[in-house]
Amino acid sequence: MKSRIFLFIALVAMVGCQPKDPIEQRIDDLLAQMTLEEKIGQMNQLDPSWSAEEKEPLIAQGLMGSIFNIVDPQEVNRLQRMAVEESRLGIPLLVARDVIHGFRTIYPIPLGQAATFDLALVEEAARLTAEEAVQAGVRWTFSPMVDVARDPRWGRVAEGYGEDTYLTSQMGAAAVRGYQGSDSIVKLAACVKHFAGYAVSEGGRDYNSTWIPEIQLRETYLPPFKAALDAGSLSIMCAFNDINGVPASANKHLNVNILRDEWQYDGLLVSDWGSIYNMVAHGIATDRRETAIQSVEAQVEMDMQSNAYLWYLKDLVEQGVVSEQQIDACVRDILRMKFRLGLFDNPYCEVETPQYFQPEALAAAQRAAEESAVLLKNDGILPLHNSTQLYTTLHNSKQPTVLLCGPLAHNQHDQNGTWCFDKVDSMTITPLMAFRQLAKEGKIRLIEQKGKHWSREVSQSNIAQLTRLAKQADVVLYFGGEESILSGEARCRAHLNLPGDQSEQLRALKATGKPVVLTVMAGRPLCIADDIAAVDAVLYAFHGGTMQGPALANLIMGEVAPSGRLPITFPQAEGQIPLYYNKKNTGRPADHPVLIDDIPVGAGQFSIGESSYWLEYGDQPLYPFGYGLTYTTFEYGSVVLSDTILDSTPYTLHPTLQVSCIIKNTGNRTATAVPQLYIRDLVGSLTRPIRELKGFQRVTIPAGESRTVTFELTEEDLAYWHLAEGVTLGADGAYAHSAEPGDFHVWIAPNAAEGQPAKFTLK
Ligand code: NOJ
Repeated sequence: MKSRIFLFIALVAMVGCQPKDPIEQRIDDLLAQMTLEEKIGQMNQLDPSWSAEEKEPLIAQGLMGSIFNIVDPQEVNRLQRMAVEESRLGIPLLVARDVIHGFRTIYPIPLGQAATFDLALVEEAARLTAEEAVQAGVRWTFSPMVDVARDPRWGRVAEGYGEDTYLTSQMGAAAVRGYQGSDSIVKLAACVKHFAGYAVSEGGRDYNSTWIPEIQLRETYLPPFKAALDAGSLSIMCAFNDINGVPASANKHLNVNILRDEWQYDGLLVSDWGSIYNMVAHGIATDRRETAIQSVEAQVEMDMQSNAYLWYLKDLVEQGVVSEQQIDACVRDILRMKFRLGLFDNPYCEVETPQYFQPEALAAAQRAAEESAVLLKNDGILPLHNSTQLYTTLHNSKQPTVLLCGPLAHNQHDQNGTWCFDKVDSMTITPLMAFRQLAKEGKIRLIEQKGKHWSREVSQSNIAQLTRLAKQADVVLYFGGEESILSGEARCRAHLNLPGDQSEQLRALKATGKPVVLTVMAGRPLCIADDIAAVDAVLYAFHGGTMQGPALANLIMGEVAPSGRLPITFPQAEGQIPLYYNKKNTGRPADHPVLIDDIPVGAGQFSIGESSYWLEYGDQPLYPFGYGLTYTTFEYGSVVLSDTILDSTPYTLHPTLQVSCIIKNTGNRTATAVPQLYIRDLVGSLTRPIRELKGFQRVTIPAGESRTVTFELTEEDLAYWHLAEGVTLGADGAYAHSAEPGDFHVWIAPNAAEGQPAKFTLK
């Protein structure tokens, strides 16, 4: 017994003697010197709309923590100098900016990046983005957005990585690694957002309320945040929405119980723009003063643009409503972030000749645009260089005569998509510019549509012009979709059609008898089944950024084979939304749907044999998650397992299951397959989805050759959130994350709707 006591004392002494982390030591030293006003000052962020008279005294007195939206390095340094050299304690400013999918060089919108299923490329794009942004003095980006979004009406579906929890988690973590790098001093801090549930806004209407049961929150919406934080994200942002009746900016359950207590996160939690003051409109606080109380209680540490902290916190502490310990907890995390960015030792931006649009960045942007385009349909017209037999011999020439048209054929502004404040439109290469180059090189003959066009345009004379020009061409390349302003924040749509008279244009073009290739450049999935049916080939390219023109030219001409896969289900009609692959089976799955036209007139009501579907569509989407064609065909062999038992009992020799299959390229050109690993837990204590993504790879396979792909599954991959043992269904508060023994299906499949599963048992 005595020896145990000694051991205990020795251990305590050892822990006590551990030198304190130098950053924590410096935070303690600084906090001890700070006045209450200086502490509260750190909790505010201002943007340049503040006048010099308003902002500069605050900065010079050390009463401002962060500035926002200044990208002039000289101005950044001038303000930083004020904070560092004039304020009493010299605490530097955090300089923030929304750098979402590129700074000057623009990469595809995040939804397009997700379609690449290429984590290394997404990480590389973020790394190159950081290299550009820091040259302008930006040290903190409000990215990545990891809101799992299953409603394409919601405009911000463009900004995230689609409908799937696993894919979003992987993508978000890759972006964080890219922005922040692996050095101990972070160059550009990431800010994962919006915590949490924002994409669940009812009806796809931005900022709308959300109701998310705890288990679904943990199972579907929180894991991407955890993954981004585990990847090292230095900060996290609150969402605008209320969730189960409590706005995210006052949500103690999210921000304290989960973020701090469960996840032990020690980074910075910032509000969204005005989201603290928005709580008055939410109807949860009577005035700005009260919003400050509620947000501090929920440990929202920095106030972006509500002025609630700036104006009320000092009084609230002096009145004893908010404690100084609460303030200290917030300031600690703010200072920690500044130390992690190395700002105390190196606060200024090196002003050199900016190195934007470097060859490395342009190459990555082009590759990302190539990999993000998804070939949805091809009646054989693509790639163009293979299709000479389809051309008429109008011009008695070997090269196809191409009519290049549509509102996004030459639109340097819109092809960059939503959320890019620092792009340079004149550096953007459009499809028209890329095809002009091909014409110069003698690879095609080009007919151009005249005039400036936009996606919402309605014009009979435009249609007449298109019809006339199409008659002189062998093939029509139509670049349609949405202007960039139709997706992104607050840009929600009730109808997901091609805006304007694009559908009519497509039909008029098709009526000329010429093959029509439709390329869609949009910020979301559109419900365009009829347009797709009307044309000969469809590339779904999202808004692809600076280099999308050459990327699309390469894909269309066959220099590159498409390899994008859908990161989100494409519905046939808006009425099916939300529609996602990861659904439950229901008690009555749609095995033999009777569609609307098959119901006899005068049919009576009957009560047996009904199942879960829409009369118009059954339960089927237009295209499933993970779908995408290319210029070859792949044959997936049967799934082979290393064992039929995954044994998770302690000390087992085989805690991992190897899952593999052979993929054969059965066509005649090299292309990239994107095998996807799905599982299904056949019986759980809660109902389980019919499929869950657990892995993916990109495998390039030469024509006629085969490759074996192998994935590993562990017990952890099978775990899910359910009620803890002994807790009754419906009761709240006790959840467990674990795998339940029993049978599972596993697929390696080209998308979420295909493939044959193998079966194994978790012991
Ligand atoms: C509001 C948006 O919701 C958020 O994503 C963005 O980072 C902030 N505004 C700052 O611009």
